[in-house]
Amino acid sequence: MNHQNLALSLLNWYDENAREMPWRIGPQARAAGARPEPYRIWLSEVMLQQTTVAAVKTYFERFTHLWPTISDLAAAPDEQVMGEWAGLGYYARARNLLKCARIVAQDFGGEFPRDRKTLLSLPGIGPYTAASVAAIAFDLPETVVDGNVERVMSRLHDVHEPMPLSKPLLTDLARQTTPKNRPGDYAQAIMDLGATICTPKSPKCTICPWLDPCLAYKNATVTQLPKKVPK
Ligand code: ADE
Repeated sequence: MNHQNLALSLLNWYDENAREMPWRIGPQARAAGARPEPYRIWLSEVMLQQTTVAAVKTYFERFTHLWPTISDLAAAPDEQVMGEWAGLGYYARARNLLKCARIVAQDFGGEFPRDRKTLLSLPGIGPYTAASVAAIAFDLPETVVDGNVERVMSRLHDVHEPMPLSKPLLTDLARQTTPKNRPGDYAQAIMDLGATICTPKSPKCTICPWLDPCLAYKNATVTQLPKKVPK
């Protein structure tokens, strides 16, 4: 299957199976061309670093209730933000969150920069978060690579080289599959696929939109992948 058809079959699956999350917009709004708010995407992606979707949801609702815009967050007292973050862990994330909010509010007029490079210059925004904000909020053709995506790619292409050595290859494969059309939905679709179908244990291959092209499925190696360098 070529890359374009791979992306299309995943996007069709996503249109029917996207998980609902408080920072996502519904399928109808999406079909009408609406985009999610960059502030909400950035906030969710920072919270999702090292924390599960289930745990993040309540924190996300609370933050956006208290601070509906990035300028509201920028104006909040440090202690209040740190207090609301309590329980999410990794407190450097919260300090960088506030630093970033203040820079965006003061230097960028409250609007997130759209390009990956400027995003990368902001506190707490590394390659993963820059790519996810550019793709999901601005629908730019950036490739988001997290553990889910690495697992899906290792199986789709039956990559037996162990992690982390295989990272550059898996990133390259993920790039090749990223479509020019709907890259933001594609980024979320592949993360949803990894979280709900192509799971580490007991993957649900029979209902996977990529069952046909999956080389690991063909070779019966799905549950061996991704391999890891022995400790
Ligand atoms: N994990 C991190 N970011 C995510 C997203 N946007 N969708 C699904 N899972 C995620």
